[in-house]
Amino acid sequence: MKNKIPIIIDTDPGHDDALAIMFAVKSGIFDIKAITTVAGNSTIENTTRNARYILKLLDREDISVYSGSAKPLVRELIKAVVHGESGLEGIDPKNESKLTNDAVDKIIKIVKENENITLVTLGPLTNIARAIEEDNEAMKRVKQIVIMGGAIKVPGNKDRVAEFNIFVDPDAANIVFNFPVKKFLVPLDACNHVQLQLEDFEKLNGTSLYEPIMAMMKPYIENIFKDEGIKAALMYDPLTIYYLFNPDACKVKEYDLKIETKGELTRGMTVAELRSSTKDYNINVIETIDGESFKKDFINILKQEK
Ligand code: BDR
Ligand code: CA
Repeated sequence: MKNKIPIIIDTDPGHDDALAIMFAVKSGIFDIKAITTVAGNSTIENTTRNARYILKLLDREDISVYSGSAKPLVRELIKAVVHGESGLEGIDPKNESKLTNDAVDKIIKIVKENENITLVTLGPLTNIARAIEEDNEAMKRVKQIVIMGGAIKVPGNKDRVAEFNIFVDPDAANIVFNFPVKKFLVPLDACNHVQLQLEDFEKLNGTSLYEPIMAMMKPYIENIFKDEGIKAALMYDPLTIYYLFNPDACKVKEYDLKIETKGELTRGMTVAELRSSTKDYNINVIETIDGESFKKDFINILKQEK
């Protein structure tokens, strides 16, 4: 058995975050050092409660959850619409939220105490930027940061050109994108074509996750249809975990990418240098992911009962 990949998952659950956590936990290939929460899809109270709820469903409450930033670095929080007020419409978990307010400290501590930590970010980059600002040297020890966010050659999903996670906290994204460690980005470009339907989730019938997943996916699909005109469950965050699970299914290319922090119409745009002049590469972009392999692996992993 290969060594497990040591990771911290920084997240704002969210329906697709919930599926990503389920996939990461059930895949068995990760040593999940912590789940840290951030405000984004919903408030920090809700995203933290939702993270704990998902771990409870998975019978993995031994995994530590640390709550983090309640709002972006300098702006007010703009929540998502497709996840509903609670962040997990369809389920609306009632478990306790219990804020610990120590995600940034815990990220730094874990990175100091362990070699080769991979940070996986599934929400706005506020916690990671704060950790970088607080202990720059410690944060240089991370092996890599794998980021769900951005729209390179496709339209945004929050605004004309901006993807939600970067739109919510462009100032934090700017700090992280300029930070000199290896980074991978899973943007909308690689995610938009991977669209799951209720029939796909029907394959989980008979498993313990079937009912909660169906309850979540129905409103998620309806809300995406109302908001974006696509009748499907989009898999942004699970695809980000999938890059680590099966990198061979992904096409990766180096990019010179900057974050727009000032624009009125372009807030949070991931601006790529697409001209052929010399580029100052700062990030590896996952350009494509094999959607069929993802679907097959994703459903098979979620089906496993232990
Ligand atoms: C990202 O925004 C959130 O709504 C999703 O959870 C995902 O992380 C997609 O733009
Ligand atoms: Ca998310």
